[in-house]
Amino acid sequence: MKTVTLTLNPALDKSTAVDRITPEQKLRCSSLQLDAGGGGINVSKGIRKLGGASTAVFPAGGHNGRRLQELLTNAGISTSTFELAGETRENFSVTESATNLQYRFTLPGVEMRTEEAEHCLQLIRELQPDLLVASGSLPPGLPVTYYEQVAAFAKQIGARFVLDTSGPALQAAADEGLYLLKPNLAELSALAGVDKLEMNQVDDAALDIIHQGKCELVVVSLGPQGALLVTRDGFEHIPAPTVRKKSTVGAGDSMVAGMIWALAQGKSPREMAQIGVACGTAATMNPGTELFDPEDVWRLKTWIDTYGERYRITDFD
Ligand SMILES: Nc1ncnc2c1ncn2[C@@H]1O[C@H](COP(=O)(O)OP(=O)(O)OP(=O)(O)O)[C@@H](O)[C@H]1O
Ligand SMILES: [Mg+2]
Repeated sequence: MKTVTLTLNPALDKSTAVDRITPEQKLRCSSLQLDAGGGGINVSKGIRKLGGASTAVFPAGGHNGRRLQELLTNAGISTSTFELAGETRENFSVTESATNLQYRFTLPGVEMRTEEAEHCLQLIRELQPDLLVASGSLPPGLPVTYYEQVAAFAKQIGARFVLDTSGPALQAAADEGLYLLKPNLAELSALAGVDKLEMNQVDDAALDIIHQGKCELVVVSLGPQGALLVTRDGFEHIPAPTVRKKSTVGAGDSMVAGMIWALAQGKSPREMAQIGVACGTAATMNPGTELFDPEDVWRLKTWIDTYGERYRITDFD
């Protein structure tokens, strides 16, 4: 199955470390590390780690845009980009070595007009994907409903659309209808139109979304509690193994990467959600923005196969 990821607001991630962060002083940092960042791009990286393939579609602006492309090409990931006027944004993160805390500064993306975003859709059309994954925020300048247009476009080209984003951008796209949603609890609450869902309301809220025709599958991610897979036929809790947590940054993108890889392999929704949980949890074992080590993924997947039943929550009430 041909997989394409779409990142409308990519970033060049720059990270470094310093012993202590203190004001007014020169902070002598270790050498700079450059990484390609942004939701869809991270998903492409995760798919690659699992041995799968995808093409990352994104707007690339100026010098930073070229660096992004280079970084991905060097990592063995195909890209299809279009030149954006202006520079692709940079994100900057500093790890304070004394405490191991990571300070993450994200900058707004470069303004993008709807006509420019249409170039990305054109690139996707040429790639003829079976699976289209969009992840991450929308850049400034695009209407908050833009993912709704992407959802409609995906239908038109016959691709299954998977979306991982938050807020009104997510709500609008869900109204158009898509294949798979992976909301966390806060995002599911917003989709259900309430402030905060309680655990015992999660299954019904997700099932409602399916019954309203907004999507076929929902995987609600529950942080350390794993995930809830919800289909038309019912729900199943997938517990997350307990691990030594270093950083949860990238857990969501890793989870999506695992699920997309599984879908592309023709796995069942259940396997898909289990592999997603294994990837998300494996990501928490790595420091900073690093995704996951595939060896950890398959070890955790074996744990889920063996002990999942025992730790499964069957009754959320
Ligand atoms: N503390 C944790 N312990 C074990 N697994 C975790 C933990 N946090 C996250 N995970 C794993 O990662 C998956 C996704 O995490 P989470 O529910 O926090 O998603 P998210 O809120 O979308 O994350 P992100 O902030 O990266 O977008 C979970 O389903 C779980 O498998
Ligand atoms: Mg998320």
